[in-house]
Amino acid sequence: MVNSTNITWHHSTITKEDRHLLNGHKSCVLWFTGLSGSGKSTIANAIDHALHQHKCNSYVLDGDNVRHGLNKDLSFKKEDRQENIRRIGEVAKLFVDSGQIVSTAFISPYRTDRDMVRKMFAENEFIEVFVHCPLDVCEMRDPKGLYEKARNGEIHEFTGISSPYESPVQPEITIQTNEMSIDQSVEKILTFLKDKKILV
Ligand code: ADX
Repeated sequence: MVNSTNITWHHSTITKEDRHLLNGHKSCVLWFTGLSGSGKSTIANAIDHALHQHKCNSYVLDGDNVRHGLNKDLSFKKEDRQENIRRIGEVAKLFVDSGQIVSTAFISPYRTDRDMVRKMFAENEFIEVFVHCPLDVCEMRDPKGLYEKARNGEIHEFTGISSPYESPVQPEITIQTNEMSIDQSVEKILTFLKDKKILV
């Protein structure tokens, strides 16, 4: 990789705080992490819908979608997953600077990669949401038929089967998708956002 040189950070005239005032809420990233099929995208989209109804500025960055464009050059080997997460972290940071509540739905299986992103943000701006669902339940759901392919050896380095998933140690929020409904999950996240005064 070639590092950029001779570049200077240009500060925006409008600050993040100005944008918070305009929006009537603060900005943050809801970083959803969990196995494929655990429900990350479903919950991320449900909270996005709820935030939209509350007239908040919000957006979802989703693994499968981002891998069609920005990150289509990346595979699922460890270094590429790290680069995937680094880029999403940077994009999420831009969204937070723009005053929005951004939900990211990526497996993000490695603790060090998630912690690297956490360090990019101020305290309270990075909210790790562990979408917790046992592997056998995810495998039973198998919404994209990928677990079956992974078991048959048609997909290599598949998270949970032939590639590791490291659960968060101290996530801000845990959602048990095999025990909680989507509405209960959304309510739990909204309560957290209100407690932290991100939403009023
Ligand atoms: S991450 O590990 O780098 O965070 P990401 O969330 O972007 O993964 O992409 C995961 C999605 O890619 C899965 O939901 C699944 O649809 C698809 N996928 C394809 N191959 C793999 C694989 N080997 N491991 C995990 N997911 C895969």
